[in-house]
Amino acid sequence: MKFFIDTANLDQIKEAQELGILDGVTTNPSLMAKEGIKGDEKVKQHYIEICNIVDGDVSAEVISTDFAGMIKEGEALAALHPQIVVKVPMIKEGVKAIRYFSDKGIRTNCTLIFSPGQALLAAKAGATYVSPFIGRLDDISTDGLNLIDEIRLIFDNYGYETQILAASVRHAMHIIDCAKLGADVMTGPLSAITALLNHPLTDIGLEKFLADHAKNS
Ligand code: E4P
Repeated sequence: MKFFIDTANLDQIKEAQELGILDGVTTNPSLMAKEGIKGDEKVKQHYIEICNIVDGDVSAEVISTDFAGMIKEGEALAALHPQIVVKVPMIKEGVKAIRYFSDKGIRTNCTLIFSPGQALLAAKAGATYVSPFIGRLDDISTDGLNLIDEIRLIFDNYGYETQILAASVRHAMHIIDCAKLGADVMTGPLSAITALLNHPLTDIGLEKFLADHAKNS
């Protein structure tokens, strides 16, 4: 399973990269705004900085919602760095744009996926990744993990190569459950990733090993 971090915060990206487990980064306009990154040039520069930290795919989202605008923006984003994957929303114009990018060899991440039908359409259009937002489904009392399960079944039935990128991951159990269900990738906050480290028996065990070693030395 690939681990992506879902942030535009450079310190957090560096921390995950230094841990040696990072396969990529996802961003979105809200995450860029949270870091105070404003204006076309600053946004583009920020994507390049992220690409220079991480050795893997970096999703950069288009803002346009019309086909021509998405193509113009997506081509400019893809030209920034070979690691850029163009993030396109799951709307009719977005599906057309994914087909266009796919035919041109530009990789895409279809975002805002909330149903198996949306994932199927994106895969048929040639998306590299689909991003089902499991946390936001959980927020409205719907089973986000069930969506991962359904998409896995459909993609496996037909051998679609589109990767399932479980997004809107909120905590460590989301990561573990997505891994059990066969999601290809998960993207989540640093806190969810580092929470995987923790177990009280590890802490107790290590404390005892160190204490016993100190007694003998
Ligand atoms: C995915 O690419 C999105 O950036 C993200 O996972 C959204 O997560 P949220 O629901 O926590 O905002």
